[in-house]
Amino acid sequence: MGSKAGVGSEDGVDGVGVGPWVGDWPSGDHWDPDLLREGDRRNVVDAYRYWRQDAIVADLDTRRHDFHVAVENWGHDFNIGSVIRTANAMGARAFHIVGKRRWNRRGAMVTDRYQHEHHQPDAAALAAWARAEGLTLVGIDNLPGSLPLETHDLPRACILVFGQEGPGLSEAMRSECDVVLHIEQFGSTRSINAGAAAAIAMHAWVRRHVFDQHP
Ligand SMILES: C[S@@+](CC[C@H](N)C(=O)[O-])C[C@H]1O[C@@H](n2cnc3c(N)ncnc32)[C@H](O)[C@@H]1O
Repeated sequence: MGSKAGVGSEDGVDGVGVGPWVGDWPSGDHWDPDLLREGDRRNVVDAYRYWRQDAIVADLDTRRHDFHVAVENWGHDFNIGSVIRTANAMGARAFHIVGKRRWNRRGAMVTDRYQHEHHQPDAAALAAWARAEGLTLVGIDNLPGSLPLETHDLPRACILVFGQEGPGLSEAMRSECDVVLHIEQFGSTRSINAGAAAAIAMHAWVRRHVFDQHP
C-alpha cells in the first residue's frame, strides 16, 4: 500500500492538506479517485483524508451525539458559521437555521457539508419539530430568569438554541424554550460572542453526556 504525501492548500487556506496518493491506490468504496489523484486539501481530520464526502457523512452518522443546535437567522449574523463549525467538531446530530433560509456560511469553513441542515421558518416551527422528535428546547442566553448553565443538568436529547449579535434570542424563541440557560460572566461586557457562547454550551453537553461529568 502507498502513503499519504505532500502538503498543499485546503479550502483556500495555504499550507494544509495532502498531495496525491503515493504508490498503489487503496481499494474500497469510500476512497475518492479524484482526491487520490490530485490530493486532498479539505478541512477534514487525517482519518478522512481521500474519503468521498458522502462516505464521511455516512461514517459520522454512525456516531453523532444526541444534541442538535439551532441558530436564529434574522440578520445574517456572521457568527452563525462559527457555531456550525463547532457543531461539526462536537458531533451535533444536526443543525437548524431558524428564520431566513440563506445564512452566512463563511465562518463554517465548509464544515456544513458534513452535517445535516434543517431550515425552520420560525420559533414555533422549531418547537413543533423538537416536540415531535422528543427533544427539549434549551435556549442559551443571558436573560432575566435564565438559569446558570454551570449548575444545570443538561438533558441528553435536546436542541441548544442560540440568538444573534444584538438582540439575542427573540421573544418568540424565548417563549418556546423549555428552559433558558446563561453562561456566568464576571466582567463588564453584557455578553460574550455568540460563537464563543455556543462552543461553551456544546462542550458542556459533551462533558455531561460523553465524559459523564455532572454539574
Ligand atoms: C450578543 S448576545 C445576546 C444579547 C444579550 N442577551 C444581551 O443582553 O446583550 C448573542 C447571543 O450570544 C449568546 N450569548 C452571549 N453571551 C452569553 C452568555 N453569557 N450566556 C449565554 N449565552 C450567551 C446567546 O446565544 C445570545 O443570544
